[in-house]
Amino acid sequence: MWRGDSATDLALAAAALARGELVAFPTETVYGLGGNGLSAEACRAIYAAKGRPSDNPLILHIADMSMLNVIAEELPPQAKVLADAFWPGPLTLILKKKAIVPDAATGGLKTVAVRFPSHPVAQALIAASKLPIAAPSANRSGRPSPTAAWHVAQDFGDSLAGIVDGGETSVGLESTIVDISGDRPVILRPGGIGRELIESLIGPTIVSSGFADGSIPLAPGMKYRHYAPSAPVYLLPRDKAISRLREEFTDGETRFGLLLPIELLRQLAPLPSNVLSWSMGSISQPEIAAQRLFDGLRRLDDAGVSKMFICDWPENGIGLALMNRIRKCCTLEVF
Ligand code: TXA
Ligand code: MG
Repeated sequence: MWRGDSATDLALAAAALARGELVAFPTETVYGLGGNGLSAEACRAIYAAKGRPSDNPLILHIADMSMLNVIAEELPPQAKVLADAFWPGPLTLILKKKAIVPDAATGGLKTVAVRFPSHPVAQALIAASKLPIAAPSANRSGRPSPTAAWHVAQDFGDSLAGIVDGGETSVGLESTIVDISGDRPVILRPGGIGRELIESLIGPTIVSSGFADGSIPLAPGMKYRHYAPSAPVYLLPRDKAISRLREEFTDGETRFGLLLPIELLRQLAPLPSNVLSWSMGSISQPEIAAQRLFDGLRRLDDAGVSKMFICDWPENGIGLALMNRIRKCCTLEVF
């Protein structure tokens, strides 16, 4: 484990990246599993380490705009507006790639996903390595994304060159991915930057269901089940959650886990001894729920619950991304 606030540790981590090794590092969204984005071999090592299908391309992370010119063609006007407004930050743009970017990074696509993270540790590491860093979320494929260094260690043990610890991530959900190549901008994955903010700058967008014509995945990663802990997760409608859970609680044997807003947890108190809870914060603050979701899924799993319950959130601001992740981790929506 390297310390994100140590210049010596960052130099060691950057040297490992330059040698083609894999280093996990914090960003403001989630931890990334980084490798040299210009090396096909390093990109293949990322897929192998994650157990990730090779048609699911990687995001290349930059630490200044001159790095962008190395990997992508010039920004189209709408992309420039978004980059000016939200970089550095939790926004990923799909751009025409330059030949230097290996097919291994883009899953053979002619486009490349680019992000300029705002986390100071991510920026320092990328700058020190002098490379665009390919980094998917640093979880094993299918597991909840990592929002703390120990989450990464849980999934990878000491199989990586190292993990740079920068504490808990502040956003907690991945970046918003925007594709501006078509007639209308498409949000391929809702994320840290809300749809409303994007539309206030570039006009109406389409939020992709992840598939074009029901078959071709636009952001290939969106077709896979994601973020899932081992225990099944059930999504309850918020207005019926209390009565549904009281019914469930008549079973005093099964260990249940609840990931609910504090308002609902208060109504359910005191909880039976077989029920564990993870507060998602107030229903009026979806950004706190976003920051706490993946951590809660892992913690309840580690505590050995055999069923988890979560409820829906209003889908404005980061709430859209929050509900996107909640739906993907759920086994079943209960109406
Ligand atoms: O916040 C984030 O974006 C984090 C941190 C580490 O930066 N990274 C992340 O990467 O979430 P990953 O690999 O878990 O998700 C990348 C998504 C996938 O859904 C992938 O299919 C999509 O980006 N993607 C990558 N390149 C693409 C491309 N050229 N066209 C369309 N989608 C692309
Ligand atoms: Mg991921």
